[in-house]
Amino acid sequence: MIDPTSIRKVCVIGAGTMGSGIAAHLANLGFQVTLLDASQQSVVDSFERAKVAKPPHFMLPETATEIRLGNTTDNLSWIGEADWVCEAIVERTSAKRSLFARIDPILRPDAFISTNTSGIQISVLSEGLSDGFKQKLIGTHFFNPPRYLKLLELIPTSETNPNIVSTMTRFLEDRVARRVVQAKDTPGFITNRYGMWCMYQAIHVAEKLQLSIEQVDLITGPFMGRPKSGSFRLNDIVGLDVMNDIANNLLERCPNDPYIQTLKAPKSLATLLERHWIGEKMGRGYYRREGKEFLALDLTTLAYRQRMEPDLSSIRALEKLPLGERIAAALELKDEVGEFLRHYLIPSLKYANYLKEEVSHSVLNFDQVMEWGFSWAMGPFAMIDSIPSNRTGLPDQKSYLSHSVLQFDGQYLPIESRPEFTRLADAPLIESKTHFNIRDLGDGIKALCLTTKMGVISPACVEELIGTLETESIDRFVFTSEARSFSAGFDLKFFLAAIGEERWNDIDHALARLQHLGELLQHSRGVAAVYGHVLGAGLELALSCPQLLALAETNIGLPEAKVGLLPAGRGATLMRINNQHSAKRLADVTMTLATGHVATNAQEARSLGYLRSTDRTVFHPDRLLFEAKSAALAVEPTGIIQVQPVAGPLSGMIDRGLESLGTKGDFSKHDALIGQKLKVILAKAQNYEDCLAKERSEFLDLCAKALTVARISHMLENGKPLRN
Ligand code: NAI
Repeated sequence: MIDPTSIRKVCVIGAGTMGSGIAAHLANLGFQVTLLDASQQSVVDSFERAKVAKPPHFMLPETATEIRLGNTTDNLSWIGEADWVCEAIVERTSAKRSLFARIDPILRPDAFISTNTSGIQISVLSEGLSDGFKQKLIGTHFFNPPRYLKLLELIPTSETNPNIVSTMTRFLEDRVARRVVQAKDTPGFITNRYGMWCMYQAIHVAEKLQLSIEQVDLITGPFMGRPKSGSFRLNDIVGLDVMNDIANNLLERCPNDPYIQTLKAPKSLATLLERHWIGEKMGRGYYRREGKEFLALDLTTLAYRQRMEPDLSSIRALEKLPLGERIAAALELKDEVGEFLRHYLIPSLKYANYLKEEVSHSVLNFDQVMEWGFSWAMGPFAMIDSIPSNRTGLPDQKSYLSHSVLQFDGQYLPIESRPEFTRLADAPLIESKTHFNIRDLGDGIKALCLTTKMGVISPACVEELIGTLETESIDRFVFTSEARSFSAGFDLKFFLAAIGEERWNDIDHALARLQHLGELLQHSRGVAAVYGHVLGAGLELALSCPQLLALAETNIGLPEAKVGLLPAGRGATLMRINNQHSAKRLADVTMTLATGHVATNAQEARSLGYLRSTDRTVFHPDRLLFEAKSAALAVEPTGIIQVQPVAGPLSGMIDRGLESLGTKGDFSKHDALIGQKLKVILAKAQNYEDCLAKERSEFLDLCAKALTVARISHMLENGKPLRN
């Protein structure tokens, strides 16, 4: 068996929705990818669609050119070059089996082979194949789209070599950025067997209780700790045809499951399928898109009507309670919410309890697939623990004790500790300050974690951070945040108020202190761990740390121009220093800053010059803290890097670039003025100190412009930039 750390070449077979998505994800991660489909025409056509997928499969469009395309008639021998063959062809047993029979003699003896399926048992797929093949074959249930959804159900058969199971698990976790849950080899595995049942149950109950689809979506959305799409929007996104295929497959294969009849199509679903109104891909399903509006299906008349804002006051009354308490309380309500939950949730918990041993290896695994695959805040067993047993009708037996989890033999086993997936909330709190917490990550590493809303940085936050770095003994640390995003940038309200009162010295002082904080970070042993949005002053501080680690799916940029300003907390200076090896690069960076362009992922941020070569992209969404801590153990201060003179006619290149942007229509005179001011720092300033002074003076000059004030006010009022 090949050493998983040396896997480089992957051959994905099947270029449809999943195959193309998996191929793109692997290419983003740096694997050498071959993608095969039945014919050259079909591989090219499918791949063209994949290149324009929304949301995008590729982090950088040019990565698509690195994938080698071929077909299973002319290029089958390429399979022999692969370290891992990842089959993702159509969900048909006969097609998959006959492909395996053709692959078997070509596959390298040490290579991995996996099959991607939504629900066909792997042992059924390997029937009739050689023993060697059966020992290697393992099921992978990737989620769509693979770039964005981290769960992977891994399904060995009774014949799969256990070494392959453990090696694949590690490989997929360490190098393919997955959270792996091992599922038993049963139809639909855990997610489709149980998840689909829950989706059908919600429709049946809505019809029975004559609730509107908006009411059900409101109850089954964030109120239940689930995504905003709720139930019916989710049905449309998944596709009613896909739901129907999966349900029919399960109805056929699980005849002895006493709950399975729920998967028979409810009236509304049957009608929509008949009309081929199968959801988002057809523009209509339970909801119908009319321009920017959505109409909703009336479950009684089965006709579309205006969407209604459901008025469920009990939801508003309970929504502040912690999730478990909220649901326990809601189950007692006499209104539609209580009625729905008693008919929907309680049977779904009973079904999970019935199914658990057949499909999963532990209740923890069962909950994990629902949490990671469906983004539920609580899986069914955590939910069972939160609700009094007289309400669930299930035995009063906790699924989880603080560090252990119930096994199917009635014993509790300790929950395996996985330091690589540590979350900030697990790190002991050392001190809670006004704007940030200090936590202990162990091994002498602390975490400085912003606690302001959206990680917004105010002058008071800057002072508190300076005070801590200057006076407290913080040696090695990770600089991160506890907000949903690392940081949305500096507090614009401060600037607007100061401009209104003409407190120019206060603005200058605030910028000078932000610059000073950046210098302190630059001389520290700090590593920035960033995610979500990393904008403006947030990026200026993160980039001041000697090293920055960014989650792959992070929005990164210095969009000050969008509010009529420029980065003056050392942002423009750092952009100059980090890109001064080339005049062309500096000219491009100036255009990026002049348009306030924000990268939508870390790789794009790197290509735009926001990130340094020493900064790292962390592809695994749950490993940022662990990787940042490991980096902090070794990081050394970079100190201030001097500004170098740039060879080449940089000023002229910037002028031409700005002129060219000006001809495109949405680049205004005010944008051009900001571009000229950026040129002063990126091309003309003589040295580091001069850069900092010019950042502040040009920033102040922009503050005095009415167009800038209008942009800041508009952003604060509407959360969107004003083009003026
Ligand atoms: P798809 O229908 O979009 O694509 C299937 C592709 O396989 C087509 O491009 C087809 O030309 C190709 N193909 C068929 N027979 C072939 C052969 N003998 N050799 C080479 N290529 C062949 O299907 P999709 O959605 O990509 O699904 C692929 C697999 O992944 C299925 O087993 C499906 O159940 C599973 N899956 C699908 C998910 C989804 O959301 N679409 C989610 C998880 C798993």
